[in-house]
Amino acid sequence: MTAGIQPLSENGGDVSAPRHVAIIMDGNGRWAAKRRLPRSAGHRRGAEAVREAISGALKAGVEYLTLYAFSSENWNRPQEEVTDLMGLLKLYLSREVKSLSKQGIRLKVIGRRKRLSEDINEMIERAETQTRDNKRMTLVIALSYGGRDEILDAVRSIAADVADGRMSIDDIDEARFQNSLATHDLPDPDLIIRTSGEQRLSNFLLWQAAYSEFLFLDLLWPDFTEETFASAMEEYQGRHRRFGGRP
Ligand code: FPP
Repeated sequence: MTAGIQPLSENGGDVSAPRHVAIIMDGNGRWAAKRRLPRSAGHRRGAEAVREAISGALKAGVEYLTLYAFSSENWNRPQEEVTDLMGLLKLYLSREVKSLSKQGIRLKVIGRRKRLSEDINEMIERAETQTRDNKRMTLVIALSYGGRDEILDAVRSIAADVADGRMSIDDIDEARFQNSLATHDLPDPDLIIRTSGEQRLSNFLLWQAAYSEFLFLDLLWPDFTEETFASAMEEYQGRHRRFGGRP
């Protein structure tokens, strides 16, 4: 499989390359269990697969890549695993930001930051500031993120605007709502990929996924490579998107 994108005429689809790809990185635990390794080993390999996804996205010319790294529900995992994942994220933020910048990548984190420790918050702020002028691609990491939380936060901010007289109820429309979401500066995801064979959204980008294409892959996240990304692009370009309009 080549990393190139097939011309549209060869695969019958009617869509161009996706601008925004979002990934639910699932299966680290199962990858580790298959090898009788601790779950932490699966997460570590998962962090390596993140590099593969980024280089695949860069090669495909994707403008926005969103990765679901830690959901609002993941706080309910055993404390040891939560600590482990947070440690891995810290390691990632401390080691990778330079390389992200070199590759022209802007980093953006979405999710409930209040629940994250002070040091992680500081690292995130530093990384976002350091990379904010990069233009080649935006890497969005969803951390302590839940789609329902995000929608509730948007409702609260709109309700406050109405209560304080800054907005009238009649002004509330899709554009205003989208503008109140954490993803206000991103286009909706064209394609959402989930690994590990599970076929659900798990509270990821609920508003934004209204017209996304879905791709469910049987492989476990640590096995995801640049080539997997390239095949996903080919599959996507064979799709027919109608956005509820054309028959
Ligand atoms: C799902 O696998 C994966 C997670 C909950 C964490 C995702 C985190 C990473 C890929 C590593 C760190 C990320 C970055 C951005 C550095 P699971 O544990 O639910 O697997 P299972 O369903 O097989 O148990």
